[in-house]
Amino acid sequence: MAEETKKQRKQISLSLIQPTSIPTLGNYLGAMKGWPSFQDEFDTVFGIADLHSITVRQDPKKLKQQTIELYALLMSVGLDPDKSILFIQSHVPQHSQLAWLLNCYTMFGELGRMTQFKDKSKQHSDNVNSGLFTYPCLMAADILLYQADVVPVGADQKQHLEITRDIAQRFNSIYGNVFTVPEAFIPKSGAKVMSLADPTRKMSKSDPNPKGTVYLTDTPSVIMKKFKSAVTDSEMCVRYADGKDGINNLMTIYSAVTGLSFDKIESDFAGKGYGDFKKAVGEAVVAELEPVQKKYNDYMNDCAYLAEQWQKGAETARKVSQRTLDKAMKKIGFLQFLK
Ligand code: TRP
Repeated sequence: MAEETKKQRKQISLSLIQPTSIPTLGNYLGAMKGWPSFQDEFDTVFGIADLHSITVRQDPKKLKQQTIELYALLMSVGLDPDKSILFIQSHVPQHSQLAWLLNCYTMFGELGRMTQFKDKSKQHSDNVNSGLFTYPCLMAADILLYQADVVPVGADQKQHLEITRDIAQRFNSIYGNVFTVPEAFIPKSGAKVMSLADPTRKMSKSDPNPKGTVYLTDTPSVIMKKFKSAVTDSEMCVRYADGKDGINNLMTIYSAVTGLSFDKIESDFAGKGYGDFKKAVGEAVVAELEPVQKKYNDYMNDCAYLAEQWQKGAETARKVSQRTLDKAMKKIGFLQFLK
């Protein structure tokens, strides 16, 4: 019987996202669109990494507002608080507690090799704080507290997942099996979306050209405008080919949204101009985001309901994560508060 339940247990998948901006169309088509279906395949944990975000100075009002908006958006794209643990990291003190412990099992040299630390300390040279340096220990705590088996991450977070595995293995080798050693999970379905203004660069919230990035909460007219001004080439032929970065990107977006193959898109737009194609891509994106935006507006108008959800999420998260924290603390030799 025990064997049976073990077999039936779904793997645990966990991912956190920072509340530093409204997610972009790139975040959506690259990752978030696939998340709701994880809820059937895995036991899913999704969180908002607000503690991570303060490694870079944040405006207090904006941080609060963006946290609410991101929570509403996660629900709007289809994450269901009845199926997933959906929580805000700062509501679950166990994350900070385990992070401290893990700090003491992580080497200075290891953290110094993190490319994100090196990049961010150059970018924010006036604020190279300790949190920026120990960031991976907090991320490891996020993951290990829930005994996650798989962590869907973008390429930029792979090194942080590697160090999480190293920390877990180091701890386990001293104390026995306390933590599940997680695997990175790079979902196959995600599309890589480039900036509409400079299609050689990834679509990003930090694009210097605001026309390059579509946000999930952009209005239909803003979305249409951004697509109409998308950079293309002078060939005037809708086909996927080297050197046609702008058209390749629009085709990738169109295909991700409509499910049409590149061949089909090429034949549908044979003989048509880029104006028609850009309009079609813009309209397809508007239609794709319409139900998400409708839900988002409804949630944002019912903050009491949202608060109920994040409270429920935090309660479950605290319960689950406390089990792992207790186990780790006991192994280390801390005196238990309750005897
Ligand atoms: N560091 C991740 C990012 O910036 C966010 C994050 C924090 C995360 N904790 C995590 C991602 C745990 C996956 C698992 O994108």
